[in-house]
Amino acid sequence: MNRLTNKRILLGVTGGIAAYKSADLTRRLQDEGAEVRVVMTHSAREFITPLTMQALSGHPVHLDLLDTETESVMGHIELARWADVILIAPATADFIARYASGHGDDLLAAVCLAAECTMVVAPAMNQAMWAKESTQTNVDLLRKMGVNILDPHEGLQACGETGAGRLMDVPDIVTRVANLFELGLLAGKHVVITAGPTREAIDPVRYISNHSSGKQGYALAQAALEAGARVTLVSGPTNLTAPDRVTLVTVESARQMLEAVMQSAPGADIFIGVAAVADYRPETTAEQKIKKQSAEGMTIKLVQNPDILKSVAELREGRPFSVGFAAETENLVDYASRKLEAKNLDMIIANNVADSSIGFNSDDNETIVITRTGQSPLPKSSKEVVSRKIIAAIAEKLAADSEQVA
Ligand code: C5P
Repeated sequence: MNRLTNKRILLGVTGGIAAYKSADLTRRLQDEGAEVRVVMTHSAREFITPLTMQALSGHPVHLDLLDTETESVMGHIELARWADVILIAPATADFIARYASGHGDDLLAAVCLAAECTMVVAPAMNQAMWAKESTQTNVDLLRKMGVNILDPHEGLQACGETGAGRLMDVPDIVTRVANLFELGLLAGKHVVITAGPTREAIDPVRYISNHSSGKQGYALAQAALEAGARVTLVSGPTNLTAPDRVTLVTVESARQMLEAVMQSAPGADIFIGVAAVADYRPETTAEQKIKKQSAEGMTIKLVQNPDILKSVAELREGRPFSVGFAAETENLVDYASRKLEAKNLDMIIANNVADSSIGFNSDDNETIVITRTGQSPLPKSSKEVVSRKIIAAIAEKLAADSEQVA
């Protein structure tokens, strides 16, 4: 189970012998789906090299408070803002003292001072240093500040002594960090969504398209992210900004959209076709701008585009749970149900586009969720609210289907 999908973890490494364990910790956090960036204190570099941490995290390691290059890319404020969780592991007695007393004289201390996100500190030190009243007072102060302290374990220490002070075992740290997040309805699932219109070129300057704004697809991408999913959004041209953590693939034509979808949908858990794909495209695209010709008009021969949703729903291997949209102006449930069958879907979201205040280019939507076993109406509300309800309906159906299989 990917318990940390979409989560951003800033790992602070301070200078203790347990610093070598932060390499394994980075890997295991990533295995759970987290994106990890690393800040190292000066003394941490005596125990493990920034190069090791850079290679493992896949990002340059942040080292100095006044490194102009790093500051301009991502300074202490940006790093603090970027993170969902800041995890200091291992945390030395000295770092804990500096954090507790509000120092900001190196990068990690300054990041902690600037942070407003969830904080986790995993101390590791000699047992006498851990037991010392000053350390315990500092740790208590951090607890009062709302910092989660992962108490060190008892055992044989690198210095040869036995007692409490060993860094909590790495898998336990990962579990404790994962437990800080409520698991979303689609935690660890991969969702692929198409959105927006397609453009079918007539010549280098003209195309056939439609009024789809992309709002519903983008709102669904956001709702899927919030539910803990990893999201790939394949989008035709829109004026929207994609949510921060989606993998965005931009395309123009239906054929490009099909190609992009076939790169990501096989093997995904859920596919939602929201795009208003042009049903037809010009048979040929003129290489040069077409000149005005006779006054009698002109004819463009159109040929049918591939049905992207149907192609995904008919996959023999790696077929995801397939969801379509049916925009209709009459006989809503009847037409949508036929589409569900014809395209071999698991669910179809029917919406009435006869009313211009909902659907296509508007901010609101009113839909009916239809599956083979039933239907439920989602009353008129914003596309954001409708999206959360659709995601909940998908999660519920997916869970019911997998229970049936088991
Ligand atoms: O057949 P119709 O166009 O009404 O079907 C709508 C559904 O099918 C939507 O989910 C749309 O994204 C999808 N579709 C598609 N490829 C097409 C046409 C529609 O994926 N060429």
